[in-house]
Amino acid sequence: ATSPTKPSVVWLPFQECTGCTESMVNSFAFSGGATIENLILNLISLDYHETLMAAAGDRSEQRLKEVTKSGHILIVDGSIPAPWDGSQRNGYFISGGRSGAKRFEAAARTARLVIAVGTCASFGGLPKANPNPTGALSIGALMTRLGIKTPLINVSGCPPIPEVMTGVILYYLAKGMPALDSQGRPVMFYGDTVHDDCYREEFFEDGPFVQQFDDGVSRKGGCLYKVGCKGPVTHNACSRIRWNQGTSFPMMSGHGCIGCAEPDFWDGLNFEGKQ
Ligand code: SF4
Ligand code: SF4
Ligand code: F3S
Repeated sequence: ATSPTKPSVVWLPFQECTGCTESMVNSFAFSGGATIENLILNLISLDYHETLMAAAGDRSEQRLKEVTKSGHILIVDGSIPAPWDGSQRNGYFISGGRSGAKRFEAAARTARLVIAVGTCASFGGLPKANPNPTGALSIGALMTRLGIKTPLINVSGCPPIPEVMTGVILYYLAKGMPALDSQGRPVMFYGDTVHDDCYREEFFEDGPFVQQFDDGVSRKGGCLYKVGCKGPVTHNACSRIRWNQGTSFPMMSGHGCIGCAEPDFWDGLNFEGKQ
């Protein structure tokens, strides 16, 4: 049953890979215990999540109708394919007999907030990569097309850092809308580039530069820019918060950032690196 006291959260998946959910359930702690257990058991009422809930079929569809009447926080992962007008029942994504756009629209118009988690939902991501065969749109672009005025927060990354997802939800519940950057992302997590706090940064200006993955320079902590690191143009908290319970981030494994938190990173970033 829904909780009478805890804020209702509904999570809807569209064109996604479930990586965002997998990441979220690994949230261990961030400034005051934003573990996934604490969030779900004590702070929110997670009223609908197809991967985590037991209900299926008609019962699950009935549940979705009940919990999206008003005032819920709607979390979405994945982009939404054509048709976008919300009126048709065919297309690249059908669930519960409705197109992705129709399904999203019904839950988003009555929500108090939409959170687009992952680069697919925030910017189109992998499904929108050239030639975008399904006509994938980001959640923000679809909301503009459908004239949905519900406030939106983008939490990009492929997937996003677990504690960033739980941290954004907690911040909203405690203090309301966070300050957003020009891409609709919370400045507290996306205000800096990955490069700004990278431990290899001292070698960015004059080297030494890694020339080949896992060469001697790489093992000594040289800069990965010449092997394609996109840290200087990628806004995310990987080098500050790190992954796997604060253990590591891509550069610590000897691989540069591929820009996964930026729009069109599959196509739009130059992977040639510094020459
Ligand atoms: Fe999967 Fe990445 Fe898309 Fe999340 S953003 S659904 S991890 S492809
Ligand atoms: Fe910047 Fe990447 Fe070099 Fe780190 S490895 S200093 S993020 S260019
Ligand atoms: Fe993504 Fe770059 Fe972080 S690839 S995981 S934003 S270091």
